[in-house]
Amino acid sequence: MNLSKAFPQNSSLKNLKVFQKDPLSYMNKAVTESGSPVDLHLPMGDFVLLNDPEQFAQVFSKERTHYAKSRGYKEIALVLGNGLLTSEGDEWHEQRKALQPSFHKNELRKLLPALWETGFTYTQNLVNGQSLRLDTEMSRLTMTILLNSLIKYQDDEMVSKMSEHITFGQDFIVNRIRSPFKWPVWVPTKTHRSYHRMMTDANQLIQKCVEDRKLLNKPVGDLLDVLMDHYHPDKEFVEIRNQLLTFLVAGHETSAIAMTWTLHVLAHHPAIQEKLYQEVKGLKSLEDLDLMNYSNLTYTQKVIKESLRFYPPIWNIVRLVKESDNIGGVNIPAGKQVMLNIYLMHHNPAYWPNPDTFDPERFTDYSQLKHKLQYLPFGGGGRFCIGNNFALYELMILTVQFVRKFKILPKRTEKVDFNPLLTLRPKDAVEVQLIERN
Ligand code: HEM
Repeated sequence: MNLSKAFPQNSSLKNLKVFQKDPLSYMNKAVTESGSPVDLHLPMGDFVLLNDPEQFAQVFSKERTHYAKSRGYKEIALVLGNGLLTSEGDEWHEQRKALQPSFHKNELRKLLPALWETGFTYTQNLVNGQSLRLDTEMSRLTMTILLNSLIKYQDDEMVSKMSEHITFGQDFIVNRIRSPFKWPVWVPTKTHRSYHRMMTDANQLIQKCVEDRKLLNKPVGDLLDVLMDHYHPDKEFVEIRNQLLTFLVAGHETSAIAMTWTLHVLAHHPAIQEKLYQEVKGLKSLEDLDLMNYSNLTYTQKVIKESLRFYPPIWNIVRLVKESDNIGGVNIPAGKQVMLNIYLMHHNPAYWPNPDTFDPERFTDYSQLKHKLQYLPFGGGGRFCIGNNFALYELMILTVQFVRKFKILPKRTEKVDFNPLLTLRPKDAVEVQLIERN
């Protein structure tokens, strides 16, 4: 059985520096020169990089027998416990079966008025000529939306405290995944003390929401209702907390980044923005959107899809090999980690003509796609993103609200670089200027 090619042939400190400076270009060079699969020796460990949708399909189809979530998920579990994102096997299956119905389009329909209202109020408070720092603002906006949908009726203090904790939790996870050596969290370092304080406070905040809901004793149409139906609020409080934190972490930064890049790319493509404006300018209310079948939002849909292709918020999926496998004629031994690099797949010229051109029209006819896994912003297989419909509604509604009220102009002409951590964060501030339309 063959072994996969290594990139580069001779690993050196210089190469590792190149990787650290620009990981995406480094990985692109690896697949261009050595094909897929290719072995990478990176500062965080040894990986096998894949860049072929058929190979992705194989990993997804053997997800329960041959692959497990990557080693990094152990760090994620320090904050999220054993929720839907981090659990495995039968435990994951049972959770997914219980939670899936709440993310059905018909259920999400109930959340749309609040989503519309939040986006509407937010854009109404912006003024003509204003500069908007997208990365920080979209983070705040999407956190408010998510918290409103998960736990209705919390006060402003709760929103800002939870935002603080989730931001701390995300950075804590990223830093641990990136460091080659880390102390166990019981060692009383300064960061660990902050981590324990954050977990205790988040626990108390969620506990209060659960107690309030028990007193209210009636459903209010949010995700906490669903969790309290499924789990016993006293005996299984930890499970409720884990799932709420999971949805906050999995749904927050992804949506914030998707909105940031979407508004950024529109600012840099005035003709596409104008075409989008023509489609949405007459939409005055949620009813006009007809979101259930998107019939009057065909161009908006294409723009969002292309934005998620061009800038996939989760740019890389990693799995640990539990049972050795053969991918593309190459032996992949147990213990290795495989990378399914979504960003490279979305920019692979064998599947996307002119991959580095932003062109929503490529989504006019889905049958043009050569392979269904050449496009996977929400992942694939059984662990496909449960919040994908929620995210798409959110992105559509917010984009419509922005574009119908403002012309979005770029503040800078230089390219914004990536800082690809768990998500495809921009390296620097992303700013636009808003000019009110008459
Ligand atoms: C644009 C926004 C979003 C993107 C691009 C995105 C992307 C993804 C991807 C690629 C995965 C698969 C990860 C893997 O296989 O390792 C995933 C899983 C997941 N996402 Fe999302 N997501 C988004 C929004 C959301 C939202 C809004 C929520 C919740 C409200 C959410 C909840 C989850 C959960 C719980 C999982 C784990 C599912 C499981 O393992 O069964 N996501 N997401």
